[in-house]
Amino acid sequence: MIPQISVLDTGGQYCHLIARRVRELGVYADVQPHTASASSLACRKGVILSGGPSSVYAEGSPQVDMALYSAGPAVLGICYGLQLMAHGLGGEVTPGEQGEYGKATLRILTREGLLDGLDDSEPVWMSHRDRVTRPPAGFALMAETDTCPVSAIGDRARRLYGVQFHPEVVHTRRGRRVLENFLFDICGCVRDWEPSRQLPEIERQIREMAADRNVLFFASGGVDSTVAVALCLRALGPGRLHAAYVDTGLMREGETEFVRATFEKMAEGIFEVVDASAQFLGALDGAMEPERKRHIIGEEFVRVQEAILERGHFLDGQWILGQGTIYPDTIESGGTQQADLIKTHHNRVAGIQRLIEQNRLVEPLRDLYKDEVRTIGRMLGVPDALLDRHPFPGPGLAIRCLCSGEPGALRAIEDGMFVAPVRTVGVQGDSRTYRSMLVIPHPPSERWIDSASAIVNHRADVNRAVSRCAGLDDLESLSVRPSRLTAERLDRLRAADAIVRRMALESHFENETWQFPVVLIPLGSTERPDSIVLRPIYSVDGMTASPVLMSAALLERMSNAILEVAGVSSVFYDLTSKPPATIEWE
Ligand code: XMP
Repeated sequence: MIPQISVLDTGGQYCHLIARRVRELGVYADVQPHTASASSLACRKGVILSGGPSSVYAEGSPQVDMALYSAGPAVLGICYGLQLMAHGLGGEVTPGEQGEYGKATLRILTREGLLDGLDDSEPVWMSHRDRVTRPPAGFALMAETDTCPVSAIGDRARRLYGVQFHPEVVHTRRGRRVLENFLFDICGCVRDWEPSRQLPEIERQIREMAADRNVLFFASGGVDSTVAVALCLRALGPGRLHAAYVDTGLMREGETEFVRATFEKMAEGIFEVVDASAQFLGALDGAMEPERKRHIIGEEFVRVQEAILERGHFLDGQWILGQGTIYPDTIESGGTQQADLIKTHHNRVAGIQRLIEQNRLVEPLRDLYKDEVRTIGRMLGVPDALLDRHPFPGPGLAIRCLCSGEPGALRAIEDGMFVAPVRTVGVQGDSRTYRSMLVIPHPPSERWIDSASAIVNHRADVNRAVSRCAGLDDLESLSVRPSRLTAERLDRLRAADAIVRRMALESHFENETWQFPVVLIPLGSTERPDSIVLRPIYSVDGMTASPVLMSAALLERMSNAILEVAGVSSVFYDLTSKPPATIEWE
């Protein structure tokens, strides 16, 4: 299928989200590297330049083929894409001193074309530092915000448009309308994409790739690998599949049993649990830094998987490997992804390289996005309880159990707030930060959620802000203590996580959230060395997120139950959106 729209990847975390949104509107889109030539894109109806972490002035920053602006397809630049277009065509881009991350109010000056159908002012999502200060000749100014005077521009005659805000994220309320205007009115696209219609073709490809061989899956219990197994079951039948599941000991309570039950319902006798918990815990002993933990976990996975491959004779000619790789990972491992290293994901491990090199690999979901995978999973009868589960990171509780090499005290700052030296990962302007957290001495409320991210954006030493909801020790007396990743601390986290999950499900609060990480931080007292952070967020895709409040009564019950877990001093509530924080704490 030839895409009507190509999204050029200039290194943003948002590039896939843009393509996904376009497909959601029924228009087939792909992602191409920013280096794609204008001639290779000439048959597209439109091209979208994505956002990215660079500054157009930085040496080596991603550029696009200038011929694109006169090659035929309409062009929409988003965020960095706008700056790139403005700079390239003779406008002015000014490096910003202070970034603008999160919600902003857009005032629309031209309510037609790209911004047709919007109100005079609209909430939008921004994540940038540089900004356009003078549009190129021929471009009209279409919208502004208080801090960003050039928020949308357009040249109708040349069909070139740019927006500083992110129309692809759900927090931009009318972003979908902006994209519809671009696709249907400006580019003249037609609706040609419906994931469920791909099913016969996907099954045909599985049968062709497998020929008379069997398929081995490493199942994680996540949506992708489970749907990939279900597709292969349908295409090949149960006698030709084996699914091995590695119990890392880093799972939530009851996880392994849940996955086993799901697979046994799909087909008997294809599912095997490999208990590697002692091996993982041993390897992680002493690891403090999040990237280090991720690296170790990735390496141990390689070892366990290699052992399984050898032991089961899966390397002989009778077997090929099945993987639940989805489109963003396909693009990433194809080497076109420029994204700044925010986190290391481990999708393809070295031990499997041989099978890949021998072309013994089947990836039935390689062209699909997550929501498209869910649609297909439902058609195949994969239970909703699995498809609708909150996402859970592969490295499991290991990354939600924060460690610290050194002791540290709280530092009082203005307005009764404290900086606590518990460092966590954040994402600001598409780059990774690793900073302390701010403690706000008030219970969580809409008001504090509204101001927390702004306070964080104004400070260089923190990347997230929390409220303390309950505690057995005085806040001022808490300190960070050196803490490792131990079985005892993992059990503490697992117990708190199980309490939260049970209460969130019973109260239906779970349905108001997209994900609800529960985190253990090494902040406490001698008797109770750790605290728990609640991180309920709303998101559509994990790219952006905002905190969700629960009722005071539920929070009180939950906090009281958590404080009964031995060794837990306090309960905190994360008030920060993504950006500037991330969803996970690690
Ligand atoms: P952040 O913390 O970057 O997380 O805002 C965004 C989403 O990605 C999930 N996540 C992972 N998922 N393997 C996964 O399968 C991983 O290593 C991983 N790390 C983060 C995270 O749970 C959230 O939904």
